[in-house]
Amino acid sequence: MLEQQESRVKVFVLGGDGFCGWPCAVNLAEAGHDVLIVDNLSRRKIDIDLGVESLTPITTIQERLRAWTETGGREIRFSGLDIARDYDLLLSLLNSERPDAIVHFAEQRAAPYSMKSSATKRYTVDNNVNGTHNLLAAIVESGLDVHIVHLGTMGVYGYGSHRGATIPEGYLTVEVPQPDGTRFTEKILHPSDPGSVYHMTKTLDQLLFHYYNKNDGVRITDLHQGIVWGTNTELTSRDPRLTNRFDYDGDYGTVLNRFLMQAAIGYPLSVHGTGGQTRAFIHIRDSVRCVQLALENPPTSTDKVKIFNQMTESHQVGALAQKVADLTGATVNYLPNPRKEAVENDLIVDNRCFIELGLKPTTLDDGLLSEVVDVARRWADRCDRSRIPCISAWTKTQAAAIQAP
Ligand SMILES: NC(=O)c1ccc[n+]([C@@H]2O[C@H](COP(=O)([O-])OP(=O)(O)OC[C@H]3O[C@@H](n4cnc5c(N)ncnc54)[C@H](O)[C@@H]3O)[C@@H](O)[C@H]2O)c1
Repeated sequence: MLEQQESRVKVFVLGGDGFCGWPCAVNLAEAGHDVLIVDNLSRRKIDIDLGVESLTPITTIQERLRAWTETGGREIRFSGLDIARDYDLLLSLLNSERPDAIVHFAEQRAAPYSMKSSATKRYTVDNNVNGTHNLLAAIVESGLDVHIVHLGTMGVYGYGSHRGATIPEGYLTVEVPQPDGTRFTEKILHPSDPGSVYHMTKTLDQLLFHYYNKNDGVRITDLHQGIVWGTNTELTSRDPRLTNRFDYDGDYGTVLNRFLMQAAIGYPLSVHGTGGQTRAFIHIRDSVRCVQLALENPPTSTDKVKIFNQMTESHQVGALAQKVADLTGATVNYLPNPRKEAVENDLIVDNRCFIELGLKPTTLDDGLLSEVVDVARRWADRCDRSRIPCISAWTKTQAAAIQAP
């Protein structure tokens, strides 16, 4: 619990019913903050539309919240609204509740889902860009001084070659040549290089933040998060009704959790392409901790958007599959890649901001891989194997390649 009463904040967790949002909401409540979850439950509706379910059985948001208070948690309230569509409701919620901070997870977050069809591309853009913009416009209209902590992605930097350069935390120092031959240096937003419509919405979010911070002084921390792995935190393990979701299907399942689930059910680990793609990772426990650190260390009203790289380690996908195979005896299956992406890339990332704030990273070697395999093994009978393959293709060329016999 927080030691000082005055450091308690009233915080909205937008998207607090989701995979990252739910453990974050209970963690902030446990830390003594006054938490209100705002979520339109669209993620649960997408599961129904796709005909898939979380591998772990998850209870309704109402039951989650009841279980949380019954097990001694500080009350968390819930408001079911759509931040991309219900602008007036969002504004009146801000005016009536007057939050100090808002953690913004409420976006469509799967790259493959965003690339499925023109309908899912349009939905992802409408939902993510409108949602973020509504939030910013509502904060300005309310006149409140609210700190936004937004969950962005490492994917905004792109997964092309960075030629061995370290990716800075959001801003790149560049030298600009002048007509008289002199140069000046400036810090600019790192060029964005999105690899999917989903990633593109996150790069658009960055510009919205830049503008509202510059024009209206909105205080913003943008967390460029790596791929989250793991399932539960200590708090969501407290009671089965608090269990977090575990996505394994071809659209929403993220790479490492998919490998762990595949290993648990004896399904060959699916590596798409050469396996040379390098990605950044973070365990759900560290993700939750980082959000709390960001919330409790807000920028001042004159600071530009604070950007943190919220990741703890980078791995090549093929090497990661081999690591899981070595641990579990699984086999690795190399498949055509449905994504249009570099065959391989480097990814060296500066993550000093969180380390300096006290984050002690949980690494893959901490024995947690096996813990997650155990979660997956426990619920293996709930897995629908027909939903494992990744079938959302980036272009017709990739679609033809994955359909080829
Ligand atoms: N999971 C990861 O590996 C990962 C990695 C990097 C970044 N992120 C980012 O973290 C955030 C949360 O990701 P997640 O994995 O928890 O996703 P998730 O889909 O599990 O959760 C998102 C939540 O937001 C809600 N939501 C979506 N649109 C909404 C709207 N318009 N109004 C109200 N609620 C809405 C959904 O119902 C869901 O509960 C996303 O913004 C995502 O881009 C996630």
